[in-house]
Amino acid sequence: MEPTASRLFSPFDLRGVRFRNRIGVSPMCMYACGPDGLATPWHMVHLGMRAPGGAGLVVAEATAVAPHARISPADLGLWSRAHADALAPITQFISGQGCVPGIQLAHAGRKGSTRSPWIGRDAVPESEGGWQVQAPSPLLFSPLNAMPREMSEADIARTIGEFGAAAGLAFEAGFRYLELHLGHGYLAHQFLSPLSNRRTDGWGGDFEGRTRFARALAKAARAAWPDELPLAARLSITDWVEGGWTADEAVRLAGLLGEAGVDLVVCSSGAIVPGAMPPDGPIMQLPFAARVRAQAGVASGAVGQITEAAQAEQIIASGGADLVFLARAMLRDPFWAVHAAEALGAPAPWPIAYGRAVGQRQGRVQRPQRP
Ligand SMILES: Cc1cc2nc3c(=O)[nH]c(=O)nc-3n(C[C@H](O)[C@H](O)[C@H](O)COP(=O)(O)O)c2cc1C
Repeated sequence: MEPTASRLFSPFDLRGVRFRNRIGVSPMCMYACGPDGLATPWHMVHLGMRAPGGAGLVVAEATAVAPHARISPADLGLWSRAHADALAPITQFISGQGCVPGIQLAHAGRKGSTRSPWIGRDAVPESEGGWQVQAPSPLLFSPLNAMPREMSEADIARTIGEFGAAAGLAFEAGFRYLELHLGHGYLAHQFLSPLSNRRTDGWGGDFEGRTRFARALAKAARAAWPDELPLAARLSITDWVEGGWTADEAVRLAGLLGEAGVDLVVCSSGAIVPGAMPPDGPIMQLPFAARVRAQAGVASGAVGQITEAAQAEQIIASGGADLVFLARAMLRDPFWAVHAAEALGAPAPWPIAYGRAVGQRQGRVQRPQRP
């Protein structure tokens, strides 16, 4: 069979980085660390196995920029040289597979100091390794969470600095794509949404004030991250709640983030208050990526219930996004990208060591790129 000209399997260039195709493994919290936040063999296997699986980009989970920035005591962290050193073999392996290693930097704010989700949703007390959580305003996320302390000017300045420092460590660890987590109800989103930000100083109030923290994070990360590498941001495009953060505001912010050096906005939604989710599931987010791409002057990533090769192909081919990000489909099938290529009649990016056995029989193995 002659290979078809798949858009999903066409390369994509962002700054000095080439993605071999348009498929990204979406960041997924693993709650697999000890209290030191250091990467473990689980991360090597979980992230590593998805690179031979054919994706163009593998993004490590929401990674805390400081101990008190974690969601749970089992989160991955990046606040010291030791954290970068623990991640370096993983990025080296992923790069060696012709795949771009990426990482998402995050701060949980008022959603922090909770248990791993399979243990419970309640707050971890300080006596059990929890911490005092911080947020733009002293408003509870849910009755199960701890009451946050309102962040001072000094707290805000320190946090912006922590994002910048973590961006520098991410480069040293070998990551070549950096994503700022500005969505899903975590700290930056808590500043963006009027539902969680009731400040009356320069960090709240109107659009300008509520977006100031997110814009400052973008500037700090860009200053510490090499010019030739892509910087991305994940936004909740809407809160799905009356009186909350809106798609119009998100598109405007995406444009401002672009001016601050962000190259790509991944378009997610919801999670600022309990139950604030897309009514018919995350598939409802997909049109946001087309809107941001068309109106904000940045590249966009689509995420949410992308499961089928033809669906992903259609999103890219129709200009609906520059990259597609898959989470749960990648958990079910780490070789999703290889199988998608086969379904679309494109050269299948089997790793060379497997391709001789499984791919070349069909005569359409793509030789892996070497770094
Ligand atoms: C196990 C799991 C962990 C997740 N952790 C993160 C995360 O660390 N950062 C993030 O931005 N989204 C996270 N998400 C959301 C996914 O990245 C994705 O946006 C969402 O699952 C919708 O995509 P899907 O329908 O392909 O699963 C997580 C999702 C899952 C299933």
